[in-house]
Amino acid sequence: MKNKDEMSPLSSLEDWDDDVLRRYPEAGQPAKTKEEFRNYDSPEIDGVREFYRLNHKYQTYDNVLAKKENFLQFDKKEMPWWAAMEYLNTLIDDSDPDLQLDQLQHLLQTAEAIRADGHPDWFVLTGFIHDLGKVLCLFGEPQWNVVGDTFPVGCKFSDKIVYPEFFADNPDSYDERFNTKYGVYSHQCGLDNVNMSWGHDEYLYQITKDYLPEPALYMIRYHSFYSQHREHEYDHILSAHDQEMFKWVDKFNPYDLYSKSPKPPVVSELKPYYEDLIAKYLPLTVKL
Ligand SMILES: [Fe+2]
Ligand SMILES: [Fe+2]
Repeated sequence: MKNKDEMSPLSSLEDWDDDVLRRYPEAGQPAKTKEEFRNYDSPEIDGVREFYRLNHKYQTYDNVLAKKENFLQFDKKEMPWWAAMEYLNTLIDDSDPDLQLDQLQHLLQTAEAIRADGHPDWFVLTGFIHDLGKVLCLFGEPQWNVVGDTFPVGCKFSDKIVYPEFFADNPDSYDERFNTKYGVYSHQCGLDNVNMSWGHDEYLYQITKDYLPEPALYMIRYHSFYSQHREHEYDHILSAHDQEMFKWVDKFNPYDLYSKSPKPPVVSELKPYYEDLIAKYLPLTVKL
């Protein structure tokens, strides 16, 4: 097991989201300074940097296979979906001086923004559940195995991934099976054949894959894959079908990044609508 300092370099999981927002500000908006997001400074940035140092060092091909072996048993917990959303919400960070948003509020704001734009109900539901996989933190996983930009393992790491220099600490960078452009993959082999770094995206995809329309599954599985959906660094392993489906990932991303508002949604008012949506598409309980 990793030592305690390596479990939680981020004082809040949201620090990662805020960092993504700094890197990819809303179109037409000037890049915001960190003071505009938060009224505290460098500890947060240092935490994000340390978080990526650990993420890039430990997200190896073998780590991904081991995490899949463990978590794709779905033998940790079983509960109704709404209860699982509340369980996720027990993941409380204590360092949000101004934007006191918990996990459920981020999910409701994302979903409500999608709903307000008149998208199909499965798209709204996707917004509502897309981060449920962060319950991995409640199962004792370190932050670097739950959040952060995701990227393929088993081939060369793109230098467009945030903090690429930290991949120098990843043993896969020196493994000749993995450190070429294609690594263990082949030209346009399709992402379904590619192992992504482990985290909340892949985990929730595996939980929902039998229940939601394919575009929803792409949004869930690849929403943190910024080096592809923003930088197009892995076109050589995406299939033509992946490229088509990534239009949905692109559609989803702004709701995830830019729907944050300090006005908290009223959970009790929204609960009946989301309970109905869950009942329409998902089984009674979720196996985590
Ligand atoms: Fe996410
Ligand atoms: Fe999110």
